Amino acid sequence: MNKETLRKNLREIPDFPKPGILFYDVTTLFKNAECLQGLIDELYEMYKDKGITKVVGIESRGFILGGALAARLGAGFIMARKPGKLPAEVIEETYAKEYGTDTIQIHRDAIDENDVVLLHDDLLATGGTMAATHRLVKKCGAKQAYINFVIELKGLNGRKAFPEDVEVTTLLQL
Ligand code: PRP
Ligand code: MG
Repeated sequence: MNKETLRKNLREIPDFPKPGILFYDVTTLFKNAECLQGLIDELYEMYKDKGITKVVGIESRGFILGGALAARLGAGFIMARKPGKLPAEVIEETYAKEYGTDTIQIHRDAIDENDVVLLHDDLLATGGTMAATHRLVKKCGAKQAYINFVIELKGLNGRKAFPEDVEVTTLLQL
């Protein structure tokens, strides 16, 4: 999908969630039916020949396109969730945030060594959340893992958080 259309449909909220932060609001991308379809189509074209068996979506904004894309690819969908939300046995990774730490979990039996995994989230900032989720997927023994975001905040250099041999794609760089 055309980057201009994407940019036009992304809403900017100044001073959210706190003063000085410009928040990129993906709800307007998802609200627009053509935009939503265009995003799913583009991601499908990018990953349809990679043999993806599971898409991992990161709570919560990574669930929307992650789930739609999994269905389109004929792959399974896995939720990477914040602590205390998944009911069965989990594995977890903790990562540094601006203040303090955060933790992300997946079910221990979500992924195995036969899986080719696409990890998806809406936005790459520091990369901390995705890097931790990628470590979880590797711990499960996944054969291969790809990483995708809709938006990349270039100034934060989030790509540095991932191992060099992982293919990372982003649809819009800001
Ligand atoms: C935001 C965003 C990514 C993450 C990016 O999610 O949706 O998941 O932060 O930050 P990072 O690259 O610095 O790790 P948030 O934690 O605000 O939760 P949400 O998706 O549930 O709104
Ligand atoms: Mg998020």
